[in-house]
Amino acid sequence: MSARPFDLIRPVLFALDPERAHALTLGVLRSGLLPARRRTVAGLETTIAGLRFPNPVGLAAGFDKNAVATRAMLKTGFGFVEAGTVTPKPQKGNPRPRVFRSPRDDAVINRLGFNNDGHETFARNMRRQRNGDPGIIGINVGANRDAKDPIQDYVDGVLRFSDLAHYLVVNISSPNTPGLRDLQARAKFGELLNRLRDARSQSERRPPLLVKIAPDLAPNDLGGIVEIAIETGIDGLVVSNTTVDRPPFLAKQFATEAGGLSGRPLFARSTEVLRDAFRLSQGRLPLIGVGGVWSGEDAYTKIKAGASLVQLYTGLIFQGPDLVHRILLDLRQLMDRDGVRSLSEVVGVEGRQ
Ligand SMILES: Cc1cc2nc3c(=O)[nH]c(=O)nc-3n(C[C@H](O)[C@H](O)[C@H](O)COP(=O)(O)O)c2cc1C
Repeated sequence: MSARPFDLIRPVLFALDPERAHALTLGVLRSGLLPARRRTVAGLETTIAGLRFPNPVGLAAGFDKNAVATRAMLKTGFGFVEAGTVTPKPQKGNPRPRVFRSPRDDAVINRLGFNNDGHETFARNMRRQRNGDPGIIGINVGANRDAKDPIQDYVDGVLRFSDLAHYLVVNISSPNTPGLRDLQARAKFGELLNRLRDARSQSERRPPLLVKIAPDLAPNDLGGIVEIAIETGIDGLVVSNTTVDRPPFLAKQFATEAGGLSGRPLFARSTEVLRDAFRLSQGRLPLIGVGGVWSGEDAYTKIKAGASLVQLYTGLIFQGPDLVHRILLDLRQLMDRDGVRSLSEVVGVEGRQ
């Protein structure tokens, strides 16, 4: 097999601090030096919440926090890109170092803490990115660390970006902003969703609104979330964010870092929560499956467990941008193997049997 460009670049990137490597990658993407032609695989189109996706594999939030590289990432073959998390005011995030890789575990731990340039800069960048309609771009909104009323920060995000986003995600599951995940508790969650729904109804475009949840929820909490999400007419859940759990097999030194764990060790847990969410909602709530997707087989497993769409981030760090096209080809092949003609035939098929 011939070497892929990423096989040559990876040792260089991995010799750098992960955040520096990321900044370098974003710099290259912004420069527009990447191939101009978009790579597609036919037969993977799917329509969710009124949006037509060319394929079900998206870039997860956190890669492009300030919406500077969404166009370039769409060109690598992603069916959609989620930019953010963006907070109303710019903020620096936690002290460095705050991102750690473990090649042995195919995993990353991050405690970035929503470092981003704030709503205003994001909106300016986003207008440029959307020019000429390059594809589906979701916007993931968050709350500033020092917010007096965090719910209001989310409301501001929905008000600000409803007319710029194809869909919106409310991120209440980052482990790196103290108190944030408490919004997933039943009483707060209801208030949050009601206020967000009202905010969205003030906009002209009223884009689909989704909530991104943690993989560390107690089963009872997940039930409450699904129930309230359906009651309030929210358009879907993103399952899941990173985990604060540390599986026992992780490299010892790596495992002691605080923050959210992503990558392969997250696959099983995030897929289990996805499966539970599908079962609890009886398929009435569109789900985006995220966490440890490394291959077409993984994407297919998430879809069969209940995901209408999947996303990935950490796989890209370890395998490079060709991963996206490879996943699409493999997914198509798996569907052909099973005689599946359209993705909607297999979403949640596991729970339906
Ligand atoms: C370095 C890094 C930064 C992240 N930042 C965000 C973020 O700002 N907002 C968010 O919703 N998720 C963020 N995530 C979580 C991812 O979107 C995703 O939910 C998680 O990493 C699991 O998917 P993966 O295993 O494919 O990476 C981040 C993940 C990583 C690794």
